[in-house]
Amino acid sequence: MKLLTITRPDDWHLHVRNGAVLKTVLPHTSRQFARAIIMPNLKPPVTTVAQALLYREEILQAVPADVDFTPLMTLYLTGSTTVAEIKKAAESDHIHAFKLYPAGATTHSDSGVSDIKAIYFLLAAMEKQDIPLLIHGEVTGEHYDIFDRERVFVDTTLSDIADKFPALRIVVEHVTTSEAVQFVQAAGANIAATITPQHLLFNRNAILAGGIRPHYYCLPILKREPHRLALVRAATSGNSKFFLGTDSAPHLTSLKESACGCAGCYSAHAALELYAEAFERAGALDKLEGFASFYGADFYRLPRNSGTVTLEKTTWKIPSSYGETGNTITPLKAGEELSWKML
Ligand code: DOR
Ligand code: ZN
Repeated sequence: MKLLTITRPDDWHLHVRNGAVLKTVLPHTSRQFARAIIMPNLKPPVTTVAQALLYREEILQAVPADVDFTPLMTLYLTGSTTVAEIKKAAESDHIHAFKLYPAGATTHSDSGVSDIKAIYFLLAAMEKQDIPLLIHGEVTGEHYDIFDRERVFVDTTLSDIADKFPALRIVVEHVTTSEAVQFVQAAGANIAATITPQHLLFNRNAILAGGIRPHYYCLPILKREPHRLALVRAATSGNSKFFLGTDSAPHLTSLKESACGCAGCYSAHAALELYAEAFERAGALDKLEGFASFYGADFYRLPRNSGTVTLEKTTWKIPSSYGETGNTITPLKAGEELSWKML
């Protein structure tokens, strides 16, 4: 029997929603991860410390009784965010970052920022308060090709933010291109990136393999194979600037399998197994622990976890769905086999 034991990991980019969906998805995450950075793009978005603390309580209620799990809260940056709220967030033990969504870039981003330069004074306040900025790095606008949006954002917007705020800690979330990888590699130690399992395992063909496959549609969208390979090299390189962030983003099956399906891949059901598959294919299972369990904690200046988790090399079939009839969530690789299983 082949076993792989690593320090208990954390998920540095996670959507858990609220209400019934939260109750379905949270046990998947809390079984695998000790902590997770919780995305604030609820409807309405989580924009204040007070809202985040209420949301945190709701999440804690959904954690199974025998499990130890800590949600690390974030606030949604808008044109109306105040310097006072940034100060309050930085002083809170429970708020760990602000999330910047360019308005219109993705799911529930309509309250996001439409003129990023206009909120530079807020970024200055974050830099001063030393609270990290998490960025959805895509330009918006009809005239940009969807496959170019991250690359253009890196060239035009991210590089300017990095120049103007050299001490601001930034996580470029869910990088998907070789250009974003190169940017992060070349940047100072204050700039890091998360990488999702789907962007390590699949290229854009997965969305259109024999028909339209909505469960492979997420934003930033899957890219060409050379980009996937660049992500695999970054994740398995042992470079501490790259760490685990699933971007697991549950939507009801009915809202994905639709004429206008929502963006987001649900991966919390088997997150670690999916990463293990990608690392094993790259011959780099020995690099999984740093990526999954050390580098993110170090970046956020939190202690590394003390427990362990064990994966067994064994074949199992992912269920076709999770949740109650009529309100199901279809997981990534639904009905397909995986070769690692967390014990
Ligand atoms: O695919 C995505 N889904 N990308 C995002 O940035 C947001 C997420 C969601 O909240 O569903
Ligand atoms: Zn996300």
